[in-house]
Amino acid sequence: MSESAQVLGEVILTEDAIRAKVEGLSAQITADYEGKRPLLIGVLKGAFIFMADLCRGIELPIEFDFMAVASYGAATQSSGVVRILKDLETEISGRDVIIVEDIISSGLTLSYLRRVLQTRNPASLEICALLVKEGAMVEDIPIRYTGFSIPPKFVVGYGLDIGERYRNLPYLALLSEK
Ligand code: IMP
Ligand code: MG
Repeated sequence: MSESAQVLGEVILTEDAIRAKVEGLSAQITADYEGKRPLLIGVLKGAFIFMADLCRGIELPIEFDFMAVASYGAATQSSGVVRILKDLETEISGRDVIIVEDIISSGLTLSYLRRVLQTRNPASLEICALLVKEGAMVEDIPIRYTGFSIPPKFVVGYGLDIGERYRNLPYLALLSEK
C-alpha cells in the first residue's frame, strides 16, 4: 500500500468533540491525583498534541518527561518490535507516573513500555490514551483513562501520522484509497 494512494477520508472526531473529551480527562486526573505531583510521560511523537492539551486542563503541580519508541514508520501495521529511541531524563522511582499515549492498537508498544517502567519502581503507573482501537488489542493492558474507542481502522490527525504527514490536523480522520 503506497502512501501516495491514500487520501484523507471521513472525519471521525471533530475538533470540538476532542476538546470536550480531553477537558473531561484533565478534570478526572485533577480529581484522582489531588495532593500529588504526577509525572506525565508523553510517548513521542504521536502524543505531543494530546499531551499539550491534556496538561493545560490539569490543575496540579505536574511535571513532564518524554520517551520515543520506534513505531510503524510509513506502514500501517505493527511489527510487534518495540525499540526505545529516547529514554526518560527523570528518575521515576517513587513517582506517580501517567503514561500519555495517542492511540492503542495492538497494545504491544504500551505493554512493553509499561514493563520497562515498572522495573524502575514508580509509586504508581497508569495509562491515559486518547484513542483505543476496538478489538485490536492482543496484549491485555489496564488503561485507567481512555478518550474514545474507535473502529480498528487507520486514522490520522491530532498528532497521529502516516509517514510523518497529517499530525497537525486539529481533527481525526480516516485514510481512504484514492
Ligand atoms: P500498538 O503497539 O499496535 O498498540 O500501536 C501503537 C502505536 O502505533 C501508536 O502509538 C501509534 O504511534 C501507532 N499507531 C497505531 N494505530 C495508528 C493509527 O491508526 N494511526 C497512526 N498511528 C497509529
Ligand atoms: Mg504513539
